[in-house]
Amino acid sequence: MSRSAHPAGPRHADVLPEGHYSAPPADLNALDPKVWARTVARGADGVVTVGGVDVNTLAEQHGTPAYVLDEADFRARARAWREAFGQDADVFYAGKAFLSRAVVRWLHEEGLNLDVCSGGELATALSAGMPAERIAFHGNNKSTHEIRRAVEAGVGRIVLDSFQEIVRVAHVAQELGRRQRVQIRITVGVEAHTHEFIATAHEDQKFGIPLAGGQAAEAVRRALQLDGLELIGIHSHIGSQIFDMSGFEVAAHRVVGLLKDIRDEHGVELPEIDLGGGLGIAYTSGDDPREPHEIAKALTEIVTRECESARLRTPRISVEPGRAVVGPTAFTLYEVGTVKPLDGLRTYVSVDGGMSDNIRTALYDAEYSVALVSRTSDAEPMLARVVGKHCESGDIVVKDAFLPADLAPGDLIAVPATGAYCRSMASNYNHVLRPPVVAVHDGASREIVRRETEEDLLRLDVG
Ligand SMILES: Cc1ncc(COP(=O)(O)O)c(C=O)c1O
Repeated sequence: MSRSAHPAGPRHADVLPEGHYSAPPADLNALDPKVWARTVARGADGVVTVGGVDVNTLAEQHGTPAYVLDEADFRARARAWREAFGQDADVFYAGKAFLSRAVVRWLHEEGLNLDVCSGGELATALSAGMPAERIAFHGNNKSTHEIRRAVEAGVGRIVLDSFQEIVRVAHVAQELGRRQRVQIRITVGVEAHTHEFIATAHEDQKFGIPLAGGQAAEAVRRALQLDGLELIGIHSHIGSQIFDMSGFEVAAHRVVGLLKDIRDEHGVELPEIDLGGGLGIAYTSGDDPREPHEIAKALTEIVTRECESARLRTPRISVEPGRAVVGPTAFTLYEVGTVKPLDGLRTYVSVDGGMSDNIRTALYDAEYSVALVSRTSDAEPMLARVVGKHCESGDIVVKDAFLPADLAPGDLIAVPATGAYCRSMASNYNHVLRPPVVAVHDGASREIVRRETEEDLLRLDVG
């Protein structure tokens, strides 16, 4: 069926069932700049373009589903973070949000550092030319092999996450005749205002060493005694998709409290403090994220104030935004396969991807928006649920959203703000092939991660 065809489809239910949605938007063809990448616009012909390329062309050239990433927007956001924090602070992009060699090169060019948390992420960073001293190595269970590779490569810091790891990293560094710069990740007991599974600074969880009960102080004692380690600071990451700065305020207060205790006990003022990532983005029009310069100002003021009252020199601050850099810069382009109205409930719109390219809805109950992008429509709104092609009834991409009632197979729809934690969490469930990441810039598109093929799948199947 042609992409411009729009036969009569299901109608909007008169009585809406319970759900996450609010009222239908006034104009279904409008694209809220809050949730779409910066160069996204609807052309005069009604077709959505990004980076000067229209989505019908993208679908023809690269197929669907595809993650479409606005390179100019990525670079602008990376630069905004870098400039907001200035020369006296460091921005580490959290590679777990999305990492590829092209992204590493962009980050390098824009002056950001990189946080990696596995051998695979480290290999990607190094192979794309990120200088090792600008890499931080994270993770709650780094293998000895990963630690060795990181130390050998000369990474700028390893963030220690347990008592065993303090010993392991010191041992490897000594074997290699190195003194490794390290930070200790602590949990400060803050409940970030976010989903339970992505709040990470409360104590009952796997990351970090608790401040409570003197455990973090004991970790510092041990790290300071080991010749292979140079303890440069304390790290705290309180969660993800956070809008409220009060969690950072409490975290900074407690981290600075520990720095003061370290000064009093050991006569050492640690030179660095890392407040992690976790800054929220707009997934729907209801979300109101802060700009990097506001966040930088707020965090710098909080740390400076806390240090003044503790009579400490203000340490060098670092932050680790992942989602807030890459999240808004991409959307997922899908082709509609089936449209199934359920009387008095909603219309199920099945697309050619699903939980294998976006697990966040199933995992976190995440909310997303969606729009018809291959054409405009004057049809009335219908309450829709965008679902994938997987063998799970929880295979939902967008739980509740309004789409035009004439939506039909062959139409292209797009889900914005899928730059973070979608491709990086993608799976091969049902042996569905992972989509490409297509970067668009100045009227041209290119795959920076190609589509997976059946040959890729079969190459791993060596039985
Ligand atoms: C230690 C650390 N830093 C940074 C991040 C990035 O978080 P976000 O992408 O929400 O900014 C994470 C995410 O889990 C993390 O664990």
